[in-house]
Amino acid sequence: MSDIKIKITDREGVVHEVDAPTDMNMNLMEVVRSYELAPEGTIGICGGMAMCASCQCYVNSDHKLPDLSDDEDAMLAEAFNVKDNSRLGCQIHMTEDLDGLEVELAPES
Ligand code: FES
Repeated sequence: MSDIKIKITDREGVVHEVDAPTDMNMNLMEVVRSYELAPEGTIGICGGMAMCASCQCYVNSDHKLPDLSDDEDAMLAEAFNVKDNSRLGCQIHMTEDLDGLEVELAPES
C-alpha cells in the first residue's frame, strides 16, 4: 500500500478527503501544499523546520502520532491558537499507520 486517505479541514471549514503517498517521504504540510488547501505563503513558511508554526493543525482522530520533538514542542509553546491536540504538520510524516487521519488547519496567525 502506498497511499493513505486523510481528511483535512481547511481554514474555511471545508473538508477535503485526499490521498497521501507514504512512499515519497512527505509530511502533512507538504500534502496540504500539494493539494493547494491553503494559499501559497500561508503554510510551510520555514520549509518544514519546525520554526514557523504556519503548518499548525489540530488532530481530531485518535491516531497515535510520534511524540513531539523538542523543537516542535518549543515552537508550539510560542504559537497562537494552540490547543491540546495541536501539532506541526511538517513534523507528521505520512506512514501507513496514519490511514484515516483527520486534521484541521489552525487559523493563519
Ligand atoms: S512549516 Fe514551519 S513549522 Fe512546519
